Amino acid sequence: MLRRGPLFLGLLLVGCASLPDLTGDSGWPTPTAGAVVSEHPLATDVGLEILDAGGNAADAAVATALALAVVYPQAGNLGGGGFAIVVQHDPNIEPRALDFRETAPASLRPEHFLDEQGVFDSPSFLGSPLIVGIPGSAAGLRELHREAGRLPWRDLVQPAIDLAQGGFAVDPHLARDLQSGSLRARLKADPASRRLFYPGGEALVEGSLLRQEELGRTLELLRDLGPAGFYEGPVADAIVALMEERGGHITAKDLVDYEPRWLPALRGWFRGREVITMPPPSSGGIVLLQVLAILDGMPLDAERDATMALVASGGGQGRVADPDAAISARALHWWIEAMRRAFADRAEHMGDPSFHDVPVDELLAPEWIAARRISIGEAADPAVGPWEAPHAPESGGETTHLCVLDAEGNAVSLTTTLNTTFGTGILVPGAGFLLNNELDDFAIQAGVPNAYGLVGNQANALEPGKRPLSSMTPTVIRDGGEVVTMVIGSPGGPRIITAVLEVILRTLVHGQGLAEAIAAPRVHQQWRPLTTDLEPGWEAGALQALEGRGQELVYRNIRWASVQAIRTQIGGRPLAASDPRRGGTARVQDEQ
Ligand code: GLY
Repeated sequence: MLRRGPLFLGLLLVGCASLPDLTGDSGWPTPTAGAVVSEHPLATDVGLEILDAGGNAADAAVATALALAVVYPQAGNLGGGGFAIVVQHDPNIEPRALDFRETAPASLRPEHFLDEQGVFDSPSFLGSPLIVGIPGSAAGLRELHREAGRLPWRDLVQPAIDLAQGGFAVDPHLARDLQSGSLRARLKADPASRRLFYPGGEALVEGSLLRQEELGRTLELLRDLGPAGFYEGPVADAIVALMEERGGHITAKDLVDYEPRWLPALRGWFRGREVITMPPPSSGGIVLLQVLAILDGMPLDAERDATMALVASGGGQGRVADPDAAISARALHWWIEAMRRAFADRAEHMGDPSFHDVPVDELLAPEWIAARRISIGEAADPAVGPWEAPHAPESGGETTHLCVLDAEGNAVSLTTTLNTTFGTGILVPGAGFLLNNELDDFAIQAGVPNAYGLVGNQANALEPGKRPLSSMTPTVIRDGGEVVTMVIGSPGGPRIITAVLEVILRTLVHGQGLAEAIAAPRVHQQWRPLTTDLEPGWEAGALQALEGRGQELVYRNIRWASVQAIRTQIGGRPLAASDPRRGGTARVQDEQ
């Protein structure tokens, strides 16, 4: 019997793909090959080799993530954390979410971050040992393998060890990030990072060999001992010694107590597709489902068709934001207003569900979604507030994403992070990995923006043992709620959510191809600040029309989110795409 999650949004039967042939032995048809996408070609290669060696999606995701910890030190990690959505081909098996987010140490309090005036200043802590959360990746990846993997654990760790010990050629993206002003300053301030990334005082250049012997030894301990090789013994000792020496709070007990946790995946519907995504402590899933549900009731198709007709007649000037996808200024206005409303709820209501009762059902209830939709008029509404409980309410970052679809139809969508690029920049001496600055994702002081300009409240206040609210949005989409047809996610702080959303809208509503939709210009609105960010590339006339609606627009020539995604037709060959904004690669297996 097919079991479904508690959330059903939108119309169940609208737009279902035509029924596949179910006459074969295997039930639901599988894709004709597996695929891997990540933000580094060497990591993608590792994932593909694991699939070719008979591994499943979980095996390949674990091996890819471990390889990223070596070749993509900006965000791949052992010293950070992340989330994964795991969807088995068998629709009778519930999709699950793995939470290996970092946690706050037991002795840490918000007061530790306040200056003499009692004020919190996020930028001054991004390189501090105080802002480091207890890392979750080592335990989380092992748990993903234990629950869903097939190959021996050591086979999944070994490729990363080989890359660490044998070295790899520094790619242009790493070379550029090592030169970037604030990142360079943060890394050079740490003796171990300085030695590794700036030998002789100069940044490693493109093409130079980066060997990481200390990281290789840490990975060997992880290979041989599992999480005990990280949370106990010499690696744990090195973390604790660093904390004691430099004023951090993580203790040996904090490390040994760390546990990843499985959560039911958050599930909603958009146009007959089941959207399976990350629940709290990520805000990503709720915000994504809220915006999709609000927009699902808007006349998106009529607006698109009218825009196509306008473009065809050559009369679209000033009203069409993206002629390629027939996105009008009006449709873009709806996107922005739906984002604004969902991010208002994020700021007020979302946090670690173990500490704060996140009103998930209320935020996704059809009544609330309808109220939000009705409140969207023809003009911008910056005064919009969050959902109010009927009773007293409780008071450029970097990350990386990988997707795997195996030829059996299983999918893993995994996002992992050190928070900002290179995290704190603090490399654990003798252990060779960077530590995160994830605790900046808490609302350390209510209403004071963090590194991403996000504000929060009591729901996301820093508390011992709590996990900070995230925007990571690993997502899998199933056609008819049965067969995986899209695996998607991104780095990029809050821009993760809107980037994933826009690729879904562009592909499922506007019929764009996956690569085209990923490459297209982005828009981002997060409630506070009031302004809406735009990536260059939109039609200028349409933006004037948007401004005429009261939308305050700001062009930002910054690092936008980097979407990684796989799409397949039911039973078909997958298409995989890595965002051209960065240096990742997508590879599809040869057909067997
Ligand atoms: N550290 C970025 C996020 O989790 O959203």
